[in-house]
Amino acid sequence: MCGIIGILGKGDVTDQLVAGLRRLEYRGYDSAGVCTIVDGHFDRRRAEGKLDNLAKKLAIDPLPGHIGIAHTRWATHGAPTEDNAHPHIVGDVTLVHNGIIENFKELRDELSAEGRSFASQTDTEVVAHLVARELERGKGPIEAVKAVLPRLHGAFALAMMFKGHDNLLVGARLGAPLVVGLGEGENYLGSDALALAPMTQKIAYLEEGDWAVLSREKIEIFDRDNKPVTREVTLSGVSGAMIDKGNHRHFMQKEIFEQPVVVAQTLQAYLKPLDGKVALPIPEFDLAEVKRVTIVACGTSYYAGLVAKYWFEKFARVPVDIDVASEFRYREPVLEPGGLALFISQSGETADTLAALRHCRAEGQKIAVVVNVPTSSMAREADLLLPTNAGPEIGVASTKAFTCQLAVLAAFAANLARAKGKMPADEEREIVKHLAEAPAALNAALAHDEEIEKMAPLVAAARDVLYLGRGPDYPMALEGALKLKEISYIHAEGYAAGEMKHGPIALIDDSVPVIVIAPSGPLFEKTVSNMQEVAARGGRIVLISDAAGIAKAGEGAVATIEMPDCHPLIQPLVYAVPVQLLAYHVAVAKGTDVDQPRNLAKSVTVE
Ligand code: AGP
Repeated sequence: MCGIIGILGKGDVTDQLVAGLRRLEYRGYDSAGVCTIVDGHFDRRRAEGKLDNLAKKLAIDPLPGHIGIAHTRWATHGAPTEDNAHPHIVGDVTLVHNGIIENFKELRDELSAEGRSFASQTDTEVVAHLVARELERGKGPIEAVKAVLPRLHGAFALAMMFKGHDNLLVGARLGAPLVVGLGEGENYLGSDALALAPMTQKIAYLEEGDWAVLSREKIEIFDRDNKPVTREVTLSGVSGAMIDKGNHRHFMQKEIFEQPVVVAQTLQAYLKPLDGKVALPIPEFDLAEVKRVTIVACGTSYYAGLVAKYWFEKFARVPVDIDVASEFRYREPVLEPGGLALFISQSGETADTLAALRHCRAEGQKIAVVVNVPTSSMAREADLLLPTNAGPEIGVASTKAFTCQLAVLAAFAANLARAKGKMPADEEREIVKHLAEAPAALNAALAHDEEIEKMAPLVAAARDVLYLGRGPDYPMALEGALKLKEISYIHAEGYAAGEMKHGPIALIDDSVPVIVIAPSGPLFEKTVSNMQEVAARGGRIVLISDAAGIAKAGEGAVATIEMPDCHPLIQPLVYAVPVQLLAYHVAVAKGTDVDQPRNLAKSVTVE
């Protein structure tokens, strides 16, 4: 999952290209590069690592040129080196690519057999060789691209330039997002509207199989059968202003502290407190007819779905299947006709989740989407769109989007229950009241920041960490472990507390911190027994609970984090805060790159 951008400008374009890459860095930051055409010839700069390295090179050796393409990389094929960095140049073509060419090996073997040599290990360079070969066979750029696209299997968003053609950009997409941007005497290509926002709000989203031919004067779009098509031009409404950290050290820290406000913002769109009602957008299908809900997502969004399963089954009494998207799309799931498929995603571009959505559409499911990017592919393909209003989330580790997802899912569960006649008005009023209490409870949880910072060294020194929870706190244990893994690089696992004695307890000794998430409630005593089993083996317990819980069981813990008393419905939102802060402070203590952790990217647009 990389970020690509192309500009046909009236002046030098390198600065705009690099600024565009800054807005795309959430897609990958293993290497970056830019290429322009100057006097008909290509001129390129590439650098390994973060975009700053490329910017430093350009400061020393600027790159003129009124047309250019650029790329920020998340390595799939070939290590994050300069040779593997895009743009790749082969003969008279240069290109950048986001996606995976699945049949690159056989294409590479075919080209090698003809004596072609490769300067990189990337799948992308194969595409450049294929286009160059067509050009050498005498085809013009457009015809060359037309001949090559059908040969590519997998996912791709491409932007291409051709030697001697400084008023021609060609883009193509299949499986990976690509937009065209319309300017005044200028035109653009980009992975998303955000990259082009400072230059234009006029965006057309290319559809599956589309390719586009851009000049400064016009944009022609063709579908996968090479028929000319028009795609709707919309105003993206995406601000061009770079989001800054305010007075926070990291975007993740800022986003953790934004949660009371953005959860309130999100709930505002879904609650009618005066009427004591939840109020969702009215779908074009009858919720009362929904007999089964299938939830599909990845990573943190999947864990939000796991919590929602408890709510949908408890309140609406509707059976819920849930799966990670990468498994769901290949296990031939049995989907009841007219069933509801619910997709959860921060970015709305996660390839596996998007493919699962299209699979469910093909299987006649109603499609509901909980998403944070309103212009994303998933948002545009939803029958029922349920936006989270968390605002742009920059830190790779998802925090505020997660708690906003939970807020929307809780309201949706209540709405479905009402539609199914399972939610008496007074119970709905109670639910609305408790949801409205979430922002204040989140604020109270954030007040423990310093305390949590003080206990970070206990975890930072560990090689392995376990998180335990029961009921809806089990997915919270999974989420806590994921947060720690992805930003501190410490091995961590989340477990259903009752599952420990079936194997994982063998991991326990006095070097393993065990984070127990256990608010007071019907399962508290059960979890306390599991805590004692851990303590008996020397495990060092950190108990996250409320005052009553800590009074009852805090004695056996090496540390406790006291959460505010709150209704079980909002506990997952509130208890997300201490696990986020713990992971954050451990990562800071370890000196890792909190906002751009190694090997990760914010939006996973490849399989
Ligand atoms: C979470 O912190 C990670 N960034 C990752 O697991 C993420 O949740 C996953 O890639 C799904 O992304 P999405 O919500 O944008 O679909």
